[in-house]
Amino acid sequence: MDIDSKLATHLQTIPRSGIRDFFELVIGRDDVISLGVGEPDFATPWSIREAAIYSLEKGETSYTSNLGLLSLREKISEYVDDFFHVSYDAHSEVLITVGVSEALDLALRALLNPGDEVIYHEPCYVSYSPSIVMAHGVAVPVATTKEDGFSLKPNALAAAITSKTKIVMLNFPTNPTGAVASKEDLEGIAKLCVEHDLIVLSDEIYSELRYDEQEHVSIATLPGMRDRTILLHGFSKAFAMTGFRLGYACAPAPLIEAMMKIHQYGILCAPITSQAAALEALSGGHNLYAPMKNEYHQRRDFLVGRLNGMGIDCHCPGGAFYVFPDIRRFGLSSKDFALGLLEAEQVAAVPGDAFGKSGEGFLRCCYATGMDDLKAAMDAMERYIGTLS
Ligand SMILES: Cc1ncc(COP(=O)(O)O)c(C=O)c1O
Repeated sequence: MDIDSKLATHLQTIPRSGIRDFFELVIGRDDVISLGVGEPDFATPWSIREAAIYSLEKGETSYTSNLGLLSLREKISEYVDDFFHVSYDAHSEVLITVGVSEALDLALRALLNPGDEVIYHEPCYVSYSPSIVMAHGVAVPVATTKEDGFSLKPNALAAAITSKTKIVMLNFPTNPTGAVASKEDLEGIAKLCVEHDLIVLSDEIYSELRYDEQEHVSIATLPGMRDRTILLHGFSKAFAMTGFRLGYACAPAPLIEAMMKIHQYGILCAPITSQAAALEALSGGHNLYAPMKNEYHQRRDFLVGRLNGMGIDCHCPGGAFYVFPDIRRFGLSSKDFALGLLEAEQVAAVPGDAFGKSGEGFLRCCYATGMDDLKAAMDAMERYIGTLS
């Protein structure tokens, strides 16, 4: 049987992830220092793990409400009010999902008709374009530049809007650049969304991980935006809970209701053990993630300092745990640079074009890696570029 011909046509247009391709070269090699994988190098804080264990000990092994435990939705509503300064009703405006990944997929599938366009800023998280295509939408990337701090500029957004645009997807702080949008840029974007009656999907998964004291501004707080924004957040990054697979969406009730329809038939509910763990994460809040955040902050400063010091231009990202140095001056493609670094020095970083065409000429280095490895990786990078110039 020709299985390929049986596969859904829209799936065939989706390429394999560039990260996966690259990391298949690294798998099984324990001589490699990896700056590749975008997940915390810390184990989940002990009190959170203990809460999960205790929940199991108590025999909490059932399904929960489709929306998630009411006690957790109430805690999320309080946390979001306090942290993002926007309020949502725990009964009808909060949906607990299997990571932000599921929330993103639900939102796109709940909103898109075939041919609807979704604008997003690029370089971006690898799953955005495939998720849009899998929901039968049309992915419309808008390139951002190092010169603009990789923020989405309102005029660039305006130029991409057509009569078919339905959603604008935002992700600040950004994976892979660490970019943070200014309040002015967000206000300009919000104004356009109101003018053109667009929905905003705002993936704020890295919002706790901002450095330099600046306050996180959620677009949902800007005039006219709460009722047209789906705010996505989760536990994977700040609380180092990637394996718990827990996220949530906050939005006006009709949007949550529509996402719920897909969630209840496809997933039923997020795992109860993870929900028990998340309750503890939100009770501990800032105190639990602050030590990790302090460590990331030091690592960011170290990496930016070393890269610029060796002549690799690297903007100082305001958040997340990535730096995105500019390697264009070496005259190699991102992929060739990264492959060369891997072969010569056994250091793995992700070629920037894995995050979209506008990432070409850059490299993503994740600093959710211990300081000793970061030091060794930077020494290796300096030796490697010495062989290029
Ligand atoms: C921007 C962004 N959104 C969403 C996700 C997925 O997160 P989760 O583990 O909550 O599914 C990631 C993971 O790397 C990410 O970087």
